[in-house]
Amino acid sequence: MSGYRDLFDVSINDPATFWADAAKAVTWTREPQHILDDSNPPFYRWFPDGELNTCANALDRHVPERGDQAALIYDSPVTGTKRTYTYRELRDATAQFAGALRQLGVGKGDLVVVYMPMIPEAVIAMLACARLGAVHSVVFGGFAASELATRIDDAKPVVVVSASCGIEPTRVVEYKPMLDSALDIAEHKPRACVILQREQRPCQLLAGRDHDWRELTDSATPADPVPVAATDPLYVLYTSGTTGKPKGIVRDNGGHAVALLWSMRHIYDTAPGDVYWAASDVGWVVGHSYIVYAPLLLGATTVLYEGKPIGTPDAGAFWRVAAEHKVKALFTAPTAIRAIKKEDPDGALIGGYDLSSLKYLFQAGERLDPDTYHWAADKLGVPVIDHWWQTETGWAIAADPMGVQPLPVKPGSATVPMPGYDVQILHSDGAVAEPGEEGAICVKLPLPPGTLPTLWGDDHRYVSAYLSAFTGYYLTGDGGYIDSDGYLFVMGRTDDVINVAGHRLSTGSIEAVLAQHPAVAECAVIGVADEIKGQVPRGFVVLKSGASADRLAEELIAAVRDNIGAVAFFKKVDVVAALPKTRSGKILRKTMRAIADGREEPVPSTIEDPAVLDALTPVLRGQGA
Ligand code: COA
Ligand code: AMP
Repeated sequence: MSGYRDLFDVSINDPATFWADAAKAVTWTREPQHILDDSNPPFYRWFPDGELNTCANALDRHVPERGDQAALIYDSPVTGTKRTYTYRELRDATAQFAGALRQLGVGKGDLVVVYMPMIPEAVIAMLACARLGAVHSVVFGGFAASELATRIDDAKPVVVVSASCGIEPTRVVEYKPMLDSALDIAEHKPRACVILQREQRPCQLLAGRDHDWRELTDSATPADPVPVAATDPLYVLYTSGTTGKPKGIVRDNGGHAVALLWSMRHIYDTAPGDVYWAASDVGWVVGHSYIVYAPLLLGATTVLYEGKPIGTPDAGAFWRVAAEHKVKALFTAPTAIRAIKKEDPDGALIGGYDLSSLKYLFQAGERLDPDTYHWAADKLGVPVIDHWWQTETGWAIAADPMGVQPLPVKPGSATVPMPGYDVQILHSDGAVAEPGEEGAICVKLPLPPGTLPTLWGDDHRYVSAYLSAFTGYYLTGDGGYIDSDGYLFVMGRTDDVINVAGHRLSTGSIEAVLAQHPAVAECAVIGVADEIKGQVPRGFVVLKSGASADRLAEELIAAVRDNIGAVAFFKKVDVVAALPKTRSGKILRKTMRAIADGREEPVPSTIEDPAVLDALTPVLRGQGA
């Protein structure tokens, strides 16, 4: 491990030197002299005196050399559209839309919510905010109105940018009614909305509030990049926490650009001019980092795919896109590979495409199970690299650094910690675990550049949620172990966050929806193992006395779909007599999860009434209701 090991050691022992060197890849309007401000722990700031514009780094600086190179390839099997934007075209479209936002009064430090499907205008909107020094907050298009409203109330945008509709394989998803209803629910009212009309389902605009994207943009004057402090926020991205209230993860400008550029070369082995495809969604962190920012910061070509791994039209869709656009590195969630494997178990469709440019398949978003790893490695014949990270970190905490020194793969492991991440496994008393011992995966502070400096408007929650469990450490919320070779094995969340088809959701927010039903006295939602999606939520409700269970399951399922969104994939809820609890009243979700997944798990000695758990066990195991 010498190449990797040397790099890693410098990053931990002398972080300022390591990241000052990495920072040379960024074009600064004021070069940082000070690399790490550690004067106010547990708050750390990277490049505190640096100044830059992230959009200029992602677009303008490439135009002289790569103006005619493809910056973004939009490939949309659901609409039958393909379109390539060169760096010059993407820069011009972004400058023009930035001018449109400026006309609506958006300036440095203002927040703009972007609620859009996977279309180039979503990328343009994000980059336009960055150009103005404004802060974007993208809300995943699969979230329903009340989730959008919660984010609007927390983020307090001056403007919302949206589209008339999104296209799912089986239906057109009307965004505008969801936006309207979210703005009805939300206490905060933005000054204006900008709506992109899509021909598949145009919508009505509300006079005085809504602006047509094209009309507004056509009449705008292009805006130049506005320099901002490296520590100024670039975006806020909400992610599920253990409560129903999502956390607004803040990303700064300078550390983000430095870390993403480092990752492209050293983890993804990608160079300017290469084609890189993250088959995710701009609403998730993978989309932010590896559809939008990292490939463009580097001068690579990014692919924006509006489609699915299967059904658009078949399980060969990914291979078609990879072959057609000469993709070098493909990044997906394992769930997508499992879906493909189920439809095309022999990988017969792979053979129909020329995948000679494909060099790597990167996997993240959930644990890469060894079966899926072996299938992909065998069928594709390229390195399949699991890497582990979170919305909070913005880039990989652990990976196999392909551009430094490819390390031997151990299926089931995300390989080794990346520079700057001093990963430690801690027991509940704070003691460091021995190799092979499982515990809470933590990272010793300071976290490297690019990771969250705080939560939006809530330093207190940042500290209480992440930094309080173990003083001096960031708590990842995942459990796992490090083996004697230094390989990290991430085994799953230790809290109530679940991962459904690569989508991170909080069981708490689903419980909040169930609890609103007039017939429900109490409820619990747990994530149970699923062959394709990794995990799916299951609900258990106890009725209020005298309440009827008639049609209750249907109503609860519909309520979750309407309030959170179809992505929650909430399809199963059982009415039970009681929920197992500790004597202090805490529902034993972990024990329920283990029983549902068929694992042996000791029953806590603090259980209030073991008979309740005994009665629930057959239901959890799917043997009764
Ligand atoms: N807007 C609106 N609705 C959306 C949506 C979006 N952006 N994304 C998903 N949905 C809806 C789907 O239409 C579906 O609705 P339905 O119940 O009416 O059919 C529901 O949410 C569940 O969708 P999905 O999670 O896509 O599941 P699926 O069963 O349709 O497909 C997979 C399964 C594995 C193919 C799919 O989940 C997938 O591609 N996952 C990869 C996810 C990913 O890349 N995550 C990013 C982390 S790196
Ligand atoms: P998100 O913030 O949506 O990216 O989800 C982050 C969470 O997904 C992590 O905390 C893990 O629980 C899980 N996760 C992401 N990547 C991996 C991986 N490679 N292995 C195991 N779990 C992962």
